[in-house]
Amino acid sequence: MGILKLILVPVAVGVLIATVWNLIPEKEVTVEENNFYGSGKVRPDNTEIKPFKVAVDEKVIDDLKHRLQNSRISHSVLEDSDDFYYGFNSKQLLKLRDYWLNKYDWRKQEAILNQFPQFTTEIEGLQVHFLRVQPPKTYKIVKPILVAHGWPGNVFEFYKFIPLLTDPKKHGINSDFAFEVIAPSIPGYGWSEQPKKTGFSQLACARVFRKLMLRLGYSKFYLQGGDWGAIITSLLTKVYPDNVIALHMNMIPAMPGASFMGTFYDILGWLVPSTLSSKELQKNHNPFAKFGNLIVETGYMHIQATKPDTAGTSLNDSPIGLAAYIIEKFSTWTNLEYRALPDGGLNKKFTNDELLTIVMIYWTNGNIVSSQRFYREFFLDRRCEALAKRYVAVPTAHASGLNELYDRCPIEVSRYLYNITHYTEIDMGHFAAFEAPKPLATSVFKFVKDLE
Ligand SMILES: *[C@@H]1O[C@H](CO)[C@@H](O)[C@H](O)[C@H]1NC(C)=O
Repeated sequence: MGILKLILVPVAVGVLIATVWNLIPEKEVTVEENNFYGSGKVRPDNTEIKPFKVAVDEKVIDDLKHRLQNSRISHSVLEDSDDFYYGFNSKQLLKLRDYWLNKYDWRKQEAILNQFPQFTTEIEGLQVHFLRVQPPKTYKIVKPILVAHGWPGNVFEFYKFIPLLTDPKKHGINSDFAFEVIAPSIPGYGWSEQPKKTGFSQLACARVFRKLMLRLGYSKFYLQGGDWGAIITSLLTKVYPDNVIALHMNMIPAMPGASFMGTFYDILGWLVPSTLSSKELQKNHNPFAKFGNLIVETGYMHIQATKPDTAGTSLNDSPIGLAAYIIEKFSTWTNLEYRALPDGGLNKKFTNDELLTIVMIYWTNGNIVSSQRFYREFFLDRRCEALAKRYVAVPTAHASGLNELYDRCPIEVSRYLYNITHYTEIDMGHFAAFEAPKPLATSVFKFVKDLE
């Protein structure tokens, strides 16, 4: 029975999934050329590109301090669970509040952001904010790359990553060419305007990002993304393949069962680990355990995909609540094992300044609700799901984070969905550019160089 089971189980499961999913042809997907998410009546965009600087009013900072001083953390840690298993450890949260009130300096962080040239321009009725950073003139070959962030992040995640892309030689990466980096804030995140109408999905965002690149004069460009950024850049590549030279991702958006062969190998790789090329995954690849972790760790997604306005109200009203909600993700998504630590391992990879700046960008813009609505729009726009099966022929890089909760996707799966020409494994978690900027940038350069 042994060997027979090993072969029959994956075949049976694969065939089953194929019949319910893969054999149904991809639904006709039409993407409109234009839409309007601004306030009021449809009007043409003002295509001007305006310089932008972050400048938070002192009153906002004073109000924040006042709220932090009056914040109420009245629950104590369970006596036998001084860790992150029940969510953000309240002892740790008190320490973080103390740091935020007494040591954290927003103006210093604002200066880090403002070292990058920033702009806004109107697209589909919304002011879209973006960083646009050019390499030094010494580079004769410059390639444009759009770098897309996700939730609960923003462009601040890229502050160490961007200088590596724009000036690799200075940072010990051997490359004759450099990138011009365009890092937009997703509308509803950072300093991009919040959509005022329903329907601003990841597909709409892909269209808006493409329009941004066209407006900047680039009809062909490179893409890099993780989290929503991986989904946005994937959709952009699927719908507008002619505009994309190559796609680099640190998370592969592979829906279970999206390809018959991928699903087959996913299960076979669990039963017969030696069929996987990744040594690391041979040790611990188990699609069902991964599914279990997803159930435990994605409650936030269900809430945000159904009632974002309800869930976001208290977060937008309480900085300490917002910090707990957002920063908890930087613990578990960086390494699931950090849940066992009293401090969530938060400072193993990030400083308090870095973590609090991510939160500050949500707080000062008051846009946690609009960032959460992006989940609702994803599930409401059925085209995102229909496109999950569409193969990407554009050369694609899969930089797999070994602690990535959502990826851990063997190349045996990703190669049936994307034309994977470059695969690498990096000891990093979900926030790749923030945690491991150099290995990630090195992967981008190697991928692009090998295509030449
Ligand atoms: C994948 O990309 C490479 C490099 O551009 C190309 O040579 C190859 O034909 C592509 N493969 C598929 C299946 O599209």
